[in-house]
Amino acid sequence: MKNILAPSILSADFKVLGEQIRQTADNGAGYLHFDVMDGMFVPSISFGMPVLKSIQGVSRQVMDVHLMVTEPIRYVEAFQEAGADLLTVHLEACEDIQATLDKIHSCGMKAGVSIKPGTPVDALYPILDQAEMFLIMSVEPGFGGQAFIPQSLNKIRDLKVLLEEKKLDSDIEVDGGIYLTNVGEVLSAGANVIVAGSAVFHGDIGENVRGFMEILKKN
Ligand code: DX5
Ligand code: ZN
Repeated sequence: MKNILAPSILSADFKVLGEQIRQTADNGAGYLHFDVMDGMFVPSISFGMPVLKSIQGVSRQVMDVHLMVTEPIRYVEAFQEAGADLLTVHLEACEDIQATLDKIHSCGMKAGVSIKPGTPVDALYPILDQAEMFLIMSVEPGFGGQAFIPQSLNKIRDLKVLLEEKKLDSDIEVDGGIYLTNVGEVLSAGANVIVAGSAVFHGDIGENVRGFMEILKKN
């Protein structure tokens, strides 16, 4: 399974967003992580469909949209139309997770399911074969720049075992507080899609992405 870097544009400089996205793509980041926050499911408000639409065509990266939104089924079609390729919803935010995943698939997108730090991996058990990716939050969702929660490593390992037991090759994405210094242990625990916001967009973007890609290629 290929290791993929998904820079989170929440930490980007929106005055020069297009240019910064291109820098991440030119240096090897295969996904672009797009953090949508509604101020209800999480305390912050970030951005939504108009911004996603405006960056279509800037790069050929997979638009990895992370919906930190209450009852996300309401927005599945709108995000598909705005350019999402992969739509991740929070298990905790869905009245009916199966209906939400079915809707994502019927709109032609890949589906992801995310769980917050306080939600056990076992909660994913009923839908393990219903999504192409599972997102383990390694910070409380809502803000960039937080510290990695070490207990996340056990959750990644547990999820990896569960997927292997069921012979499922879904991706495991991890998101929050990941830097060049700790990405190696996140990969060793079983993740293959790495989200990084501050670690990519603060400082020299090209250098930061190349640093991650070097480690991802080695693991
Ligand atoms: C937090 C978001 C993350 C965040 C990552 O709710 O889901 O994607 O932007 O930012 P860093 O890498 O700075 O922790
Ligand atoms: Zn995210």
